[in-house]
Amino acid sequence: MRKPCMAGNWKMNNTWAETVLLAQGISNRSEGRWEDDIDVVLCPAMPNLKAAYSVIEFDNAPIAIGAQNVHWEASGAYTGEASCEMLTEVGVSYCIVGHSERREYFAETDEMVNKKAKALIQAGITPIVCVGESLAVRDEGTYLDFVSSQVRAAFAGIEATRAQKCIIAYEPIWAIGTGRTATPEQAQEVCEAIRGCISEMFDTNCAEAMRILYGGSMKPENVAGLIEKPDIDGGLIGGAALDAESFVYLVKACLE
Ligand code: PGA
Repeated sequence: MRKPCMAGNWKMNNTWAETVLLAQGISNRSEGRWEDDIDVVLCPAMPNLKAAYSVIEFDNAPIAIGAQNVHWEASGAYTGEASCEMLTEVGVSYCIVGHSERREYFAETDEMVNKKAKALIQAGITPIVCVGESLAVRDEGTYLDFVSSQVRAAFAGIEATRAQKCIIAYEPIWAIGTGRTATPEQAQEVCEAIRGCISEMFDTNCAEAMRILYGGSMKPENVAGLIEKPDIDGGLIGGAALDAESFVYLVKACLE
């Protein structure tokens, strides 16, 4: 049995004070059983990572902190970037890579996603590797091939024992922030194909161990149908993660 994971991608939202309040709201609603039963991850903006971590650490809450981006080099002249070591120092244990917004607005390529994943693994930070097709690719009908090629590129040159500890988030671009969620069947079809791709690249053990999340307008109203699908192990949540009550609702939905 795979342990579910629910990660909140706060994107470029929340000031320091708002970060503390939201982290407290989630921490206050957390339950001791989360420790064993689910990985709950909050991913605030870079300057607020320490603020969120301090709240969780103070409360000793069963919640981890994730970053939304990283640079693969250890240090150097990379203005605006942060290294794995810097993230580790402020309490980060997960990091989103290859989010479609980074691919689209910041020209993040498959090759960069691969380098970031490798650097994170090396540093002991769990990568949450995002893949997903645009509406145009979906309409063309080539989305399974498209997503599989993103997965192959992201995990190229990584050993199976390390790959299986990573997390993949399937996020169809047409469902992100649009209110238009993929149906459970649409999400399951792609998550199953991703698991198949991992099985081909590595082996069935690796594919069975790896967590695959769905992301894209997941919210309290639609979480149950998505989470019950066999290849969906949790969610990467944008909008609904900005409200403590709704995010905790999503976490609890994974535990039913
Ligand atoms: P959304 O975002 O839940 O607001 O659609 C998900 C994401 O981009 O990770």
